[in-house]
Parts: sequence; C-alpha cells; structure tokens
Amino acid sequence: MREGLLKGKKGIIFGALNEKSIAWQVAIKAWEQGADLVLTNAPVAMRLGNIRDLAKMTGSEVIAADATKMEDIENLITESFRIFDGKFDFILHSIGMSPNVRKDIPYEQTSYENMLKTFDISALSFHRVLQTCYKLDAIKEWGSVVALSYVAAQRTLSGYNDMGDAKALLESIARSFGYIYGRDRKVRVNTVSQSPTATTAGSGIHGFESLIDFSERMSPLGNATAEECADYCVVLFSDLTRKVTMQNLFHDGGFSSMGMSLKAIEQYQKSFEECK
Ligand SMILES: NC(=O)c1ccc[n+]([C@@H]2O[C@H](COP(=O)([O-])OP(=O)(O)OC[C@H]3O[C@@H](n4cnc5c(N)ncnc54)[C@H](O)[C@@H]3O)[C@@H](O)[C@H]2O)c1
Repeated sequence: MREGLLKGKKGIIFGALNEKSIAWQVAIKAWEQGADLVLTNAPVAMRLGNIRDLAKMTGSEVIAADATKMEDIENLITESFRIFDGKFDFILHSIGMSPNVRKDIPYEQTSYENMLKTFDISALSFHRVLQTCYKLDAIKEWGSVVALSYVAAQRTLSGYNDMGDAKALLESIARSFGYIYGRDRKVRVNTVSQSPTATTAGSGIHGFESLIDFSERMSPLGNATAEECADYCVVLFSDLTRKVTMQNLFHDGGFSSMGMSLKAIEQYQKSFEECK
C-alpha cells in the first residue's frame, strides 16, 4: 500500500503527452503520494505521445477525450465514475494549443477561426470539464481542481500571441466556477501560473529559448521546473489547502513580482558593450 499526502484520493489528469509534459510529472508525483489516476488526452496525442507508458508506470487507465467535444468529456467523467467506483477528488487541466503559435502567425494577423480554436482548446475546455463534473456531481466535497496558466494572462510577453488572452479567460473561469462550485459543493478551483518550461507546447512559442533565459535571470529563485510544479499541484490536491480557492497562484521563482534584476541588467549591459 502506497503512503502519502494523497493516500486514498482519486483524480483525473489531462494533458500528459510525453515525459516533458508538466502533466506527466504531476501524474508521477500524485501517484507516488498514493493517488489512483485516470489519464486522458486528445485522440491524436495517443498516437503522437507515449501516455501508455505513463499508464503502465502508475497502473492507470487511459481514456481518450478531445477537450473541445462535450460528448468526449461526458464519456470521460462517466467512465471515471465506473473505474473509481464513484466520485473522485481532484482534476488537473493541463491543456494548451494555439494554431497561431503553432503556425507562427503574428497576433495582429490572426483569423478569428484560429483565435476561437485557441480559446476553445485552452480555456473553454476548462469550463466544459467543470460544467460536466458539476452536472454529474462527480467531485467529492473538498475536492480540488487545478488548471495550469502563465503570467501572460496579466502581462504582455512578446511571442505568446493569443495564448495570453486564453490564459486570462482560463483564470477568469477558475474564479467564476470556483465561486459556484465552492458555494454549492465545497470544491476548490485554482490556477497555477508556472514558469516557462521546456515542453512540447512551450517550445512552440516564438523566441522560447530567450524567454526561458530572461525569466531565469529575472527570478530570484530561478525558473520553476515541471517537477517542482508537480509538487505544488500535489499540495493543492491535498487536504492541506482546503480553504484555497478562486486563486491564480504564481509558481515562478518570484518572476511575477520583479521589475528588473541585477542578472538581467548585467546581460543587457553586455549587449551595449558589444555595440561599442
Ligand atoms: N511549458 C510552459 O512554458 C508553460 C508555462 C506555463 C503554463 N503552461 C501550461 O501548462 C499546460 C501543459 O502544457 P505543457 O507545457 O506541459 O505542454 P504539453 O505539450 O506537454 O501539454 C499540452 C497538452 O495539451 C493537450 N491538448 C491539446 N489539444 C487538446 C485537445 N483538443 N483535447 C485534449 N488535450 C489537448 C496536448 O495533447 C498536450 O498533452 C498548458 O496549459 C500550458 O499552457 C506551460
């Protein structure tokens, strides 16, 4: 019998594509802390990634679900009920995709089809999951739902494109549904705003290497890794954070509170010296 902070808890993890995925690390840490899991991802990700290896490692079942399709989400929640033999305790929403980012189409040149797709996959999917769980009363009292966000919801970062708008919407949905789910069922809903992390989705951002370097220099504690993000998510799924809800929680080594750091100034200075 595994011991730990999540002993006896059951949860659904969205978005583990491969070992680099933040969701992959969350699944491993949650399982190590005693949780039983259902893993899910889009049907196409089943072919492209290696979620089956993660399922084998953690003894979890995998259910394919396109997060933009209501019938897929309903099937996922109903099937999870069967697998868990009833209600479950936590959900990780770790889904992001922008056709503009993927095709390197600048923000000012987007088509509205693309933009709607970004919002549908990256933000409205969160509403869809919460609405379905609420309707089916799928989450236990004091359960916890976490979605992953980024500081581009509050501040403009070059290259992040329409994902900044999607993250702002995602965080707003966490507050709006967090109120309703807390009031009616005592379920918490939060977003974790993570440092830039070298994953498949992350690496698609224009100028991502520079963004990682910049935020590493700016953050007094340095960028947070996927493993560290997973530790934080585990705490948020646990009973140690029962009264934390409707929050956007920065997990970024201090980046979001910085204006300019010595390490960043030194790097900037070098470029002036090179010009001379
Ligand atoms: N990597 C970063 O720098 C960073 C920083 C802050 C927040 N985040 C957020 O973390 C989350 C996870 O991203 P990641 O960096 O681990 O990258 P990732 O590429 O490993 O994960 C993104 C996941 O979204 C899934 N997905 C895409 N379309 C889907 C759909 N229609 N239905 C269901 N799933 C779908 C993909 O299959 C993939 O598993 C995203 O919300 C991302 O925006 C990432």
